[in-house]
Amino acid sequence: MAVLVSGEGTNLQAIIDSIDSGYLRETEIDCVVSDRENIGAIERARRRSIPVIIVNRSNMLSILSPIFQKVDLVVLAGFLKILPSELVKLKPVINIHPSLLPLFGGKGMYGLKVHEEVIRSGMKVSGCTVHLVTEDVDGGPIIAQKCVTVESTDNPESLQQKIHPLEHQLLVETIKNFGEKKFVINNKKLIFI
Ligand code: GAR
Repeated sequence: MAVLVSGEGTNLQAIIDSIDSGYLRETEIDCVVSDRENIGAIERARRRSIPVIIVNRSNMLSILSPIFQKVDLVVLAGFLKILPSELVKLKPVINIHPSLLPLFGGKGMYGLKVHEEVIRSGMKVSGCTVHLVTEDVDGGPIIAQKCVTVESTDNPESLQQKIHPLEHQLLVETIKNFGEKKFVINNKKLIFI
């Protein structure tokens, strides 16, 4: 697979660790793609000798097309650019999002901003979602979710800290289920087996 990142890379690290521990079998990360330099995720990839490719909005399509052609799965692990629709159509692409979609998603909703909105809303549960990426930002079919209770004492930072480890589990479990064909992705539709 190819893993696309923009930040600290803790989700990327969870995937790397699951490959190294043998939890994810017959799985390899061909490359890590980033739209930013000097981020934790790149450091994590380099430490594991995974090739790193830096893209920007204008060269994304030409650089990523051949890469997407080669892999079975593309994972957005905190990647904050919107992928050109031509790329989304090429291969199954999944994304981890730090809320219970379809709530608190869409353009501009990422990272701490999501948790701030959850706290503001007064919701008593939140969580994370892995979904199939389509042209509709954060609107593709939901593959799996995990939830947490939002306590009255929670703030955006504490909520983020609660949800982050669940994201790691959910993303890795979903990649495993994809590899084991517990669900298949056909023409941007999900079929659970
Ligand atoms: C994660 O919390 C992920 O859910 C979020 O970015 C963070 C990346 O953390 N993604 C989004 O908000 C996408 N809309 P990481 O770099 O430590 O994996």
